Amino acid sequence: MNPIFDANNLSMQKQSVETLRWREGRLEMIDQRVLPMHFEYLAYTNAKEVAEGIRSMVVRGAPAIGCAAAYGVALEAIASQHQTTDAFKQTMEKGFELLAQSRPTAVNLFWALQRMRACWEKASSAPPPQIAAILLEEAHEVSREDVRINRAMGAFGATLLSDGARVLTHCNAGALATAGHGTALGVFRSAVEAGKKISVIADETRPFLQGARLTAWEMVQENIPVTLITDNMAGFMMSRGEIDAVIVGADRVARNGDVANKIGTYMVAVLAKRHQIPFYVACPISTIDMTIATGKDIPIEERADKEVKGFREYLWAAEGVQIRNPSFDVTPQELITAIITEEGYFKPSA
Ligand code: MRU
Repeated sequence: MNPIFDANNLSMQKQSVETLRWREGRLEMIDQRVLPMHFEYLAYTNAKEVAEGIRSMVVRGAPAIGCAAAYGVALEAIASQHQTTDAFKQTMEKGFELLAQSRPTAVNLFWALQRMRACWEKASSAPPPQIAAILLEEAHEVSREDVRINRAMGAFGATLLSDGARVLTHCNAGALATAGHGTALGVFRSAVEAGKKISVIADETRPFLQGARLTAWEMVQENIPVTLITDNMAGFMMSRGEIDAVIVGADRVARNGDVANKIGTYMVAVLAKRHQIPFYVACPISTIDMTIATGKDIPIEERADKEVKGFREYLWAAEGVQIRNPSFDVTPQELITAIITEEGYFKPSA
């Protein structure tokens, strides 16, 4: 797919991050695989393409995946709106299936698909072009709502941070992981907007480097002080009293409050407990999966070996070595100080 826009000198651009945008009947998404070296959008016209964009991590982060999937459904409806009603129905079912298979852990994907299906069912007696228009409006609303939710969550979360707090985050739970503002990084943005001087410590987040590439980039763009560390430095920093709080996002929260998030989150939570540092999770209520009792039941994605063997074309691991690459881990609820949502924050209890 050809990039739509490429600017190498990112610091010259003062535009806010628009992870997904609707342009001339197409969905455009920032290609997060090439940030921060390149800033470019890729365009999508049907569910199959969007599913591939999610699978290959052009777009990533639970809420952003949900928004992309909603647009994937709308695009499929637009692309097939001139088919007969029966053919339209079949094409749509195939589109839902492809999107549902794109990534397994982030529950927002399934939440968004369920929401789009409910909208389709409600409009099912209308002719396909009308259904397509209704689904597109619903997809826009999923994205608009996500930004509103993140702002509400940010306002609650900001009250938990003291002026001058040095806050560690893992992976990227920022504007790039959502339709805008972010979950964990949304709390930082809201704290700064409220006049608090906070500084961010970003774990680099092996193996996909969301912290080094995406969180660091987002914070630098907005002049929020950010220091990058490798994942194995967090314990040392905590032991030296250089971290006051931890805030991370979530990909799926079980009914008992166990949290699946980017691999490495569990390690940070254990360290935070050891050092009596508050450990917060910021996520929309749509990330809470009430059908799942505990974290043990959350499906954990295993990604390709090559992500661990090296980065992009450059491989550093010994040839022939066996690789494991679980992309998420589960933090048990007893390690979590509070879960911050758009309706307030609460301490999970079993
Ligand atoms: O594999 P990713 O990059 O999609 O995983 C995303 C995360 O785990 C994020 O850290 C995040 O907390 C969830 S999305 C706000």
